[in-house]
Amino acid sequence: SDLHFQMEVMADLDTYLRQPWRTVHGIPMVSAFAFNWERVDNFQARPEDIMVVSFPKSGTTWVSEIVDMVLKGGNPEKCKQDDIVNRVPMMEFAAPGKMAAGTEQLEAMPSPRIIKTHIPAHILPKSFWENRCKMIYVGRNAKDVAVSYYHFDLMNKFHPNPGTWAQYLEEFMAGRVAYGSWYNHVKGYWERRKDHPILYLFYEDLKEDLRREIAKVAQFLGQKLSEEALDTITRHTSFEAMRDNPATNYSRVPSDLMDHSVSPFMRKGTTGDWKNHFTVAQNERFDQDYAQKMSGTDLCFRTQI
Ligand code: A3P
Repeated sequence: SDLHFQMEVMADLDTYLRQPWRTVHGIPMVSAFAFNWERVDNFQARPEDIMVVSFPKSGTTWVSEIVDMVLKGGNPEKCKQDDIVNRVPMMEFAAPGKMAAGTEQLEAMPSPRIIKTHIPAHILPKSFWENRCKMIYVGRNAKDVAVSYYHFDLMNKFHPNPGTWAQYLEEFMAGRVAYGSWYNHVKGYWERRKDHPILYLFYEDLKEDLRREIAKVAQFLGQKLSEEALDTITRHTSFEAMRDNPATNYSRVPSDLMDHSVSPFMRKGTTGDWKNHFTVAQNERFDQDYAQKMSGTDLCFRTQI
């Protein structure tokens, strides 16, 4: 209730760390982010806003850095001046008593803003649809997302402890992880792209040919880039470059919130790491369940590379 939320304004951040998910519009949400969700629901988009949207662990940071580099004409020095979390704020982020909420950060930002969110299509603030804001969605195959999300939950104190891998995989399949069902998330934006300007990218395509995908982003945003600028962005957004860049690797996030010694944010950056985690039985069960949940859509992920 509202009263509940008002009282929580007084609570400090510690009371939100390692807490169970909270439900927001029927979706499991990070406890600290769920507080005062009205600020998110009522968020005012601007027509020139560019959204980077994804299910967590799908390559959001990667695409955010690409978009910022494209808008800055491929100038790495400009992008190194501030951390990705400030250049591309996450709309729903909230760390009560510790840092500015994403909505506050964004309200103070000049246009064109690049806005990161993981909110599923059906509960995204209406203002983004009404203003026909350009959206860049990034999807990644579900098995690699589950593996990456598991390691992220281990190091990120905003999330409850994920337990064992076997336990976690069940939670993932059931949509009992932050932002809910991966299956509904990827399908939700895939449907909306039929009536809204959405560029739908895939992590596996970025791995396959980064330069080609960067050119797609530039074209979608109406930005003309020289061949040199394209080369520079490609170099600057390789896994190794982003892992070693303090403005993109999250190393400056306070360690009471993210413990990189447990698992670094820039963990592996590969496709197919699921093969190192799924047992044969888990894989069979996952595939069967996947076929059911993804039946009737023409959305196709490359899981075999
Ligand atoms: P892994 O945990 O599999 O390594 P998000 O930004 O959506 O949270 O996604 C994080 C995942 O994207 C992590 O995956 C991270 O390593 C990977 N990633 C980040 N930047 C990358 C890059 N430049 N190239 C490849 N993968 C990258």
